[in-house]
Amino acid sequence: MKIAIAAAVAIGLIYAQTRSVWDGVYTEEQAGRGQGLYNQHCASCHADTLMGGEMSPPLAGGDFLSNWNGLTMGELFERIRTTMPLNNAGKLSREVNADITAYILSVNKFPAGKTELPHSTEFLKEIRIESEKK
Ligand code: HEC
Repeated sequence: MKIAIAAAVAIGLIYAQTRSVWDGVYTEEQAGRGQGLYNQHCASCHADTLMGGEMSPPLAGGDFLSNWNGLTMGELFERIRTTMPLNNAGKLSREVNADITAYILSVNKFPAGKTELPHSTEFLKEIRIESEKK
């Protein structure tokens, strides 16, 4: 019994450490909701293509991904949750931020899956951002 539990814990840890944005960490439906919310709260500065504007950086593509490569979804989520929208920082709920973050993943062409992107920073920290599939 103890061994079984130890094995389950070990597998859990390995799973947590190796989960990445390539493992289907949001759903298509969630990204769809996120698109509307993004257009409402973010597009005025980051553009509806996510390519950014004169003052605002892009949220999709090579430059964006190289900024975040090797970090976790927890860090990206907290960056958005606490500092964005720049003109109204910290005002959006965790649910809204998770949906918007799912949309950002979809535009960056990471695959959708069967479970929604969580809104708990602790769980999000277990998902690594990898710009290239390993
Ligand atoms: C009023 C304009 C404005 C709005 C609205 C806005 N942003 Fe930003 N955003 C910026 C600017 C300017 C920066 C870069 C400077 C800074 O971080 O303060 C930035 C930086 C970022 C970054 C960091 C990018 C990187 O690669 O480091 C992310 C992520 C981000 N914004 C996401 C969002 C999201 C998601 C929303 C909507 C919830 C949003 N922003 C709304 C202006 C805006």
